[in-house]
Amino acid sequence: MNEIQKTRWGILSTGHIAGRFAEALNQLPDAELAAVGSRDQSTADAFAAKHCVSRAHASYESLAADPDLDVIYIGTPHTFHLENATTCLRAGKAVLCEKALTINAAEAVEMVRIAREKQVFLMEAMIPRHVPLMKQVLAWVRTGRIGEVRMVKASRCARGDFAPQARQMNPALGGGSLLDVGVYVISFASMILGKSPIDALGMTHLDSLGSDEQGVALLKYDQGEIANLTFSLRTHAVSDAYILGTEGYIKIDDPFQVPTRATLFLDKEAVEVLEEPIVDGNALIYEAQETMRCLRAGMLESPLMPLDESIEIMRTMDTLRQPWGLRYSNDG
Ligand SMILES: NC(=O)c1ccc[n+]([C@@H]2O[C@H](COP(=O)([O-])OP(=O)(O)OC[C@H]3O[C@@H](n4cnc5c(N)ncnc54)[C@H](OP(=O)(O)O)[C@@H]3O)[C@@H](O)[C@H]2O)c1
Repeated sequence: MNEIQKTRWGILSTGHIAGRFAEALNQLPDAELAAVGSRDQSTADAFAAKHCVSRAHASYESLAADPDLDVIYIGTPHTFHLENATTCLRAGKAVLCEKALTINAAEAVEMVRIAREKQVFLMEAMIPRHVPLMKQVLAWVRTGRIGEVRMVKASRCARGDFAPQARQMNPALGGGSLLDVGVYVISFASMILGKSPIDALGMTHLDSLGSDEQGVALLKYDQGEIANLTFSLRTHAVSDAYILGTEGYIKIDDPFQVPTRATLFLDKEAVEVLEEPIVDGNALIYEAQETMRCLRAGMLESPLMPLDESIEIMRTMDTLRQPWGLRYSNDG
């Protein structure tokens, strides 16, 4: 019997999501968790021991230079994504980079430019795009089950008691609700409507540190479609989504960004329900699988999260925050 050709993964950083990604890779028979890189050897060693990683590097540069890796997953705060991805891409490693892809559109353009110049795979890690149930919802939309889509309504709120220095609220680390959770609802609207808005208006509240603790966005599209989006790191709220069409609507239950249940309504009656659990309770599995599918097919980007669309999503966030006076250190 032929042995499975395993994709050799490296993980860059050892924080919360890096640990969850390691758990996801360890569930996949065609993935080998070959190496981890941290800013500190002892942190890398501890992560390697916990997650059965073969090699532990004491720097991100050393990880990127590891010759026995196919792809590197980046799980650092947003402010470092461009720098970290550049290191990996220049070393010829494919990259799966956590959301938000970067801090602003200019950085995203630069990251994509390097990937294309080096002819190396790059994808923003946007979980909802890869969850099987979301693909079925998209099929409902694309086959016209709710008629013409005219509005999208989505909310992503994740209350946490974050310490001021934690990356979620720390302006120096790109903290705040727009880049952390707003990116999900903006990316969702982009995916459903299949285009970028022609107008973007919003409102936020900056906390005492200068981070946006909550916000709303209204996006308008070229055929009059509108997206009504809410995001917050301070409030408890339902994170659900609605796709409103001329013949009916679709409701995706909380948490819409890791969907397990969606309902199709026609004439206000629920006519079909989709339910599907997340494999092993870890949706990061799906984006890892998509990355490996693309690599095996020799693709440089995924049609499920195209690079030009990731840039446009960053551009929408730039437009929203400009009147808010919300700036990040990398903005220059
Ligand atoms: N897809 C999802 O569901 C999901 C969920 C949560 C977060 N994320 C994304 O993943 C990224 C990381 O989030 P997280 O919650 O995992 O963050 P975290 O727990 O704070 O971990 C971030 C890691 O980045 C590294 N790092 C490098 N420079 C750093 C610095 N100056 N300060 C702090 N950490 C630094 C550290 O690893 P070393 O010490 O090993 O170098 C640290 O452990 C963010 O972009 C976030 O948006 C995605």
